[in-house]
Amino acid sequence: MKGYYKLDEWNIIEEVFSAEHHEASESIFSIGNGAFGQRANFEEKYSGETLRGSYVGGVYYPDKTRVGWWKNGYPEYFAKVLNAPNWIGINLWVANQEVDFFTCKVSAFRQELNMQKGFLFRTAEVTLPDGKKIKLESTRFCSLVDTEIGFIKYNVTPLNFSGELSFEPYVDADVENKDSNYDEKFWDEVSRTVHPKRGLVTAKTKKTEFVVTTGMEFWIENNNQEITISPIELETEKFISNKFNITAQKDQTYSLYKAGTYVSSFNHDEEKLEEIAFNNLELAKSKGFETMLNQQAAAWAKRWEFGDIKIEGDLAAQQAIRYNIFQLHQTYTGDDARLNIGPKGFTGEKYGGSTYWDTEAYCFQFYLSTAGERVAEQLLKYRHNQLQKAIENAQKLGFKNGAALYPMVTMNGEECHNEWEITFEEIHRNGAIAYAIYNYTNYTQKTEYLFNYGLDVLTGISRFWAQRVNWSEAKQKYVMLGVTGPNEYENNVNNNWYTNYIATWTLRYSVESFAKLKAENPVKYTEKLKELNLTEEEFTQWQKVVDNIYLPEDKNLGVFLQQEGFLDKELIPVSQLDPAERPLNQTWSWDRILRSCYIKQGDVLQGLYFFEHEFDKETIRKNFDFYEPLTVHESSLSPCVHSITATYLGKNQQAYEFYLRTARLDLDDYNKEVHEGLHITSMAGTWLSIVEGFGGMRIKDNTISLDPVIPGHWKSFSFNVLFRSHTLKINVTEKGIYVTNHCNESLDIQLKSNLISLGAEETKFIPS
Ligand code: BGC
Repeated sequence: MKGYYKLDEWNIIEEVFSAEHHEASESIFSIGNGAFGQRANFEEKYSGETLRGSYVGGVYYPDKTRVGWWKNGYPEYFAKVLNAPNWIGINLWVANQEVDFFTCKVSAFRQELNMQKGFLFRTAEVTLPDGKKIKLESTRFCSLVDTEIGFIKYNVTPLNFSGELSFEPYVDADVENKDSNYDEKFWDEVSRTVHPKRGLVTAKTKKTEFVVTTGMEFWIENNNQEITISPIELETEKFISNKFNITAQKDQTYSLYKAGTYVSSFNHDEEKLEEIAFNNLELAKSKGFETMLNQQAAAWAKRWEFGDIKIEGDLAAQQAIRYNIFQLHQTYTGDDARLNIGPKGFTGEKYGGSTYWDTEAYCFQFYLSTAGERVAEQLLKYRHNQLQKAIENAQKLGFKNGAALYPMVTMNGEECHNEWEITFEEIHRNGAIAYAIYNYTNYTQKTEYLFNYGLDVLTGISRFWAQRVNWSEAKQKYVMLGVTGPNEYENNVNNNWYTNYIATWTLRYSVESFAKLKAENPVKYTEKLKELNLTEEEFTQWQKVVDNIYLPEDKNLGVFLQQEGFLDKELIPVSQLDPAERPLNQTWSWDRILRSCYIKQGDVLQGLYFFEHEFDKETIRKNFDFYEPLTVHESSLSPCVHSITATYLGKNQQAYEFYLRTARLDLDDYNKEVHEGLHITSMAGTWLSIVEGFGGMRIKDNTISLDPVIPGHWKSFSFNVLFRSHTLKINVTEKGIYVTNHCNESLDIQLKSNLISLGAEETKFIPS
């Protein structure tokens, strides 16, 4: 699909209508506002292949688990990101012929996602079977300002006739999930109301009983004058609409304005939903489309003012980084600690639940450095709030004494993923959650969160690790058996280096953090131990595991072993695979993949990325040179980590190739799956590839350190980061680096090999 979308600095552009690419484009052009979002489905009927999807934050459905062989400990359900009622729908007929892009002739098509201002625009000329031709233009957005409201301006212009147009704007709660396990529909109607030009459907999810009122309000104008219409009010179960006709004149444009709202019991009293929905629609009508669109543009301008990354000299890279940042902000705003960043955000059903280790391992740094400490704290709180559930989850698997195993996938803290090799074995996720606490504390140098809440989470996770290892008489070491590392192309392995390392790192960090609290505030320390029912003997046991863990390595090769048996595999580099067989997960049997040496995503290298400061460069180089050639990067989370490490090792061309792969993963559909939705969490990895990769940002010696390199043909790149009370602007050019400190306090930073002091509001230049 490379080259299908036109390169542009601020827009994603599709210039032809293609039924073949339609589902991919529905993903690519998705819009959202952190509270709800949707795929770029057409307003009109579309009878071709389509994945209709609108999603409301926090509203999910626990679909009964479907597995061939039930195993004790399995979660009873798999939480589905729920396809919500459709508020965008507008059926249109021209002299009784229905407009359907799949069956009509479509010309002059153009679809644009305007990332600067935050709206979706589509224009097309459509010829009906009898030769009548109309021009259609739709502009749509999900408001960042009024987060329960979306708006559409839908223009119709007859191009070669004057005659009748019939419209039917509607709300439809009779929707389904494509991934429903038992082909069930997940919504029941509670009530519906239809009036001229407005209507609501209130529906309740089965089992979870979320109630959502979906509303619409519309009117139609010609030459800025509202046209008087006499709509027929229609309703069937879970559906309301208005149908009306107008006599349209050739070359005149008729603008249907349709405001939509989602109001849910996730945020409001159930009894008040309809009233709030009507108020929202009233608000949309009184503000009007243009005002709300201007407010939308202003809200996005604010985000871009700080959050933009500018790249000169490489349009593909520039467009891609903006696209990634745009989608991340559309998915998560940090306004609500109950929400999180689903791997597909509001763009598709795949992956079920909303929270994976992706949040802590990839997204956390992006939000911490660009949205600020408050937003990062919301992400930490999310896990703290779910600690009790993580303890129950571990109890179900036989762990005791407050041991916590966070779910691999969750909506509400309960595990909702049900493949045994992931649910029971991919336990490294616990480590990333501990790592985020360290990351936040190290970055901000604030211990308040750590001492008040972080220690609770660290204790639960440490107790889990201490119980999950066992003593091997044969090895005279602690070992961890039967795990799946980040590389999901190997399951049930023993002593996955990454898992063993992050487990003992957590134990170490917990012991150190308690020691720090003891030194700084002995009273609070004693209270905390009491609260957590902890004794210092437990710390001794944790330390014993740290000191005696088995970390497989091969001294001759100078590499850590992904797992004990890794070297028994046939090690044939990916470059020797037949390209027609890639991606392997779409062509090889699972069994063949499991026995192969091919690595889905960084595993040892993921560990060396997190803990780079604990290893020398030569060790990292040897491991990179050994593992990268065996890596197929079939997880979206893979190329970014490799890009960062490649830059660190001075492999700049390779780093750039990985950058493009991570940044344009969806736009160029590298993994041939974009039709299912976007890879939202890996988009944060794109930001990391620039800031930590090319920018070389690290936190070292209690300050920020930058070691920028400029990829080959880029002229310059610039980014901003929030660091403690400072806003730092970094501009890397061919001539050298400019760093500005926006703050009324000075800051010492490490820039390449120099320690420089930046005064308040001062810019310094270091030539290259
Ligand atoms: C990756 C996991 C990731 C999940 C959701 C999988 O393909 O292997 O590491 O958590 O996708 O993004």
